[in-house]
Amino acid sequence: MRQRLLPLIAGVLAMSAFTVSPRVQAEELGAYSGAQLYQRLCASCHGPGGAGDGPVAASFKTRIPDLTGLAARRRGEFPTERIRQILDGRSGMAPHGARDMPVWGVDLRTAGAADVDALLSRLVEHLRSLQKPARQ
Ligand code: HEC
Repeated sequence: MRQRLLPLIAGVLAMSAFTVSPRVQAEELGAYSGAQLYQRLCASCHGPGGAGDGPVAASFKTRIPDLTGLAARRRGEFPTERIRQILDGRSGMAPHGARDMPVWGVDLRTAGAADVDALLSRLVEHLRSLQKPARQ
């Protein structure tokens, strides 16, 4: 029990750190690389390597998608624009309304992050680098 709960608590703490003091945290993000942004904002759910196995994934009813197969699931083509829209959230909302994932573009802008477009580009590039080759 204890062993299962610890990673969960760690993950929730990692996520809430961003909301406790949004402005301070958001300002720091400007200096982060795509990989660092990913570890900071995404890994708690999607896992350190993007496989959908982050510490809080188990507490979600929705299955956390494996982000290493975004290209493989589309015949090897990484859907740059679509991913960007999912992260930005200003357009291309999820087809069935409610989503479990934070709307990053909106959240980051609300939190006072500078140059959110650049942060999102770095994240998209990091996701591209996580892609595993399509299976033949
Ligand atoms: C709180 C958990 C959580 C966090 C943190 C999170 N995601 Fe997600 N993500 C989800 C869930 C759940 C989905 C499935 C769609 C939905 O329900 O919104 C998803 C879907 C996605 C998708 C669409 C995948 C597909 O196959 O269409 C992408 C891309 C994505 N996330 C990227 C990110 C990035 C980049 C970050 C960090 C900036 C991030 N996620 C942080 C939970 C999370």
